[in-house]
Amino acid sequence: MKAGRLFEAVKDEANRADPYPLYARLRETPVSRQDDGTYVVSTHAAITSLLHDPRISSETLPPSERPRTGNPLSDWIVNPVKDHVTNTHRPFIFRDPPDHDRLRMAVMGQFTHQRVHAMRGRSHDLVADLLDKQSDATSFDLVCDVAYPLPVTVICEMLGVPPEDEPQFHGWATQLASALEPDNLGNEEARAKNITTFDEISTYMRGLIKEKHRHPQDDMLSGMSGESGKDGGAGMGEVDLIATAILLLVAGHETTVNLIANSMLALVRRPHILTRLAGEPDLAPRLIEEMLRYDPPVHFRTRRALSSIDIAGTTIPEGADIVLLLASGNRDPAVFRDPDRFDPDRPDIRHFGFGGGLHYCAGAPLARFEAEAALVALAQRLVHPRLIDDPPPYRSGAALRGPMHLRLAIDGVA
Ligand code: HEM
Repeated sequence: MKAGRLFEAVKDEANRADPYPLYARLRETPVSRQDDGTYVVSTHAAITSLLHDPRISSETLPPSERPRTGNPLSDWIVNPVKDHVTNTHRPFIFRDPPDHDRLRMAVMGQFTHQRVHAMRGRSHDLVADLLDKQSDATSFDLVCDVAYPLPVTVICEMLGVPPEDEPQFHGWATQLASALEPDNLGNEEARAKNITTFDEISTYMRGLIKEKHRHPQDDMLSGMSGESGKDGGAGMGEVDLIATAILLLVAGHETTVNLIANSMLALVRRPHILTRLAGEPDLAPRLIEEMLRYDPPVHFRTRRALSSIDIAGTTIPEGADIVLLLASGNRDPAVFRDPDRFDPDRPDIRHFGFGGGLHYCAGAPLARFEAEAALVALAQRLVHPRLIDDPPPYRSGAALRGPMHLRLAIDGVA
């Protein structure tokens, strides 16, 4: 295959189960210009350098000719780059300093040690309940029955979303996560669907935020909507608040599910490590770091060059779209010995599973706790788990990548 078409192949669903050989080909040219003008960055060194380079922007969504909808939140999808007004209403993962930093700080102030630690214990209880439900099963779907419901419940409880509204969020989050897939950005039909979803979810959030203003509780939405400086309140405007809440919801739903599912896939394929984890639960934190390197939920993120950048023998021109192929950097043999081997005893795992630099994942400690609770319980309680489909069917996303279903046959739940 031509080097300039390798990223097309990465996005092709036929390669979803194992994109890693394509990444190895891409690493032969650390910064590779694709035929559509995108620059794909695939080595550990080049990704590290660009993640910390102020000449790249996260304000990447392409402009569109569609008319504005009048709703500032859905307008950032419709016409996000050129329009100054709508530009200020994007969630902060799509924004640059100084706005990014201000909003991020407000959110980090709500991810208090106490709140995140409370969710550690809560995750254990939730996983125990989810597994109890499978006690008579001879098979179950790890994605639908455990990996998805856990982070949904956790993020809804942290934000302060009433439990009866959770099912609605499932569909909304899945739809909005597709906004991160590059092919959907140029696809008007997918964008139109996202806009409808955005309108629905932002109407819901607006109502919930009003309620939090009237009756503040000990949750993140109440904290973020409080007055600036008061009770840790971030003093965000309503539109930023809604955009931030939606970002947390989608980020909390759509990534942790894949970390748990990818991990179980790797472990059931390596039963000796699964047995080891059951008897040695302290292995979990290292095993999760290795998983975030070996088969991470987020394979790439996009950026745009604010000026021309010389890197690894290539000049990226001003305005070019850049793909940071995080999952490829994680398999770079220049940094990791025997990179294609899953090895939880590996020392010094400097992975890009949570990104790096300014946009480093805000929910990393929470995601680690959730995955730890799930994996230890699964290792200890599932009796003789076997994969029913190997490879399992994957969700369509290439950027947020993970199994759609992971059906396991079991001899019981202890
Ligand atoms: C950003 C991965 C869980 C909230 C990121 C980024 C990655 C990532 C790679 C960097 C994006 C970029 O550079 O453009 C993951 C993975 C998770 C996970 C693999 C689970 C295993 C969570 C959770 C939350 C969360 C549970 C919140 C509840 C965020 C936010 C950002 C972010 C708000 C944007 C940070 C910024 O732009 O400053 N995440 N994430 N993530 N993540 Fe996560």
